[in-house]
Amino acid sequence: MNGVVEHNFRQLGDKRGNLVVVDGVNDISFDPVRFFYIYNSDNSVIRGQHANIRTKFVLINVVGKSKVKIKDGKGNEKVVVLDQPRKGVFIDNMLWKEMYDFSVDSILIVLASEHYDPTEYIRDWDDYTERIKNEDSTK
Ligand code: TYD
Repeated sequence: MNGVVEHNFRQLGDKRGNLVVVDGVNDISFDPVRFFYIYNSDNSVIRGQHANIRTKFVLINVVGKSKVKIKDGKGNEKVVVLDQPRKGVFIDNMLWKEMYDFSVDSILIVLASEHYDPTEYIRDWDDYTERIKNEDSTK
């Protein structure tokens, strides 16, 4: 799917344990300026349900497991299972995302390309698909 990249990040393990590196543009397509993490969600919860006009994200479930469904508003969708600390998924701006099926121990880390700005979140599906249609018609 365009705008979605699955990553298997470098693991620099030794006898003392494992260390996983995401070194900005050396490993992903942006230098993160913000990160946040989600925990204490469970398998009854659906998070996200939005698209971002500018922000690109990388999601890594460092403990436990979750899934993310990504939709492009044109009928394409992809589900990525995040179940290893070194596995991540890049999600481009203007893609719809839903995070769900959290294991009770899940800690989902999110790296973001932009600082938080609530006005660049599109939280209504119909509004989102309308914008996608309009983007396409101006190409
Ligand atoms: P929300 O975007 O609904 O989380 P999710 O996408 O995981 O479902 O964010 C939850 C609340 O936190 C909401 O009130 C906005 C706030 N928030 C910030 O203030 N800064 C941030 O960087 C993020 C991601 C959320």
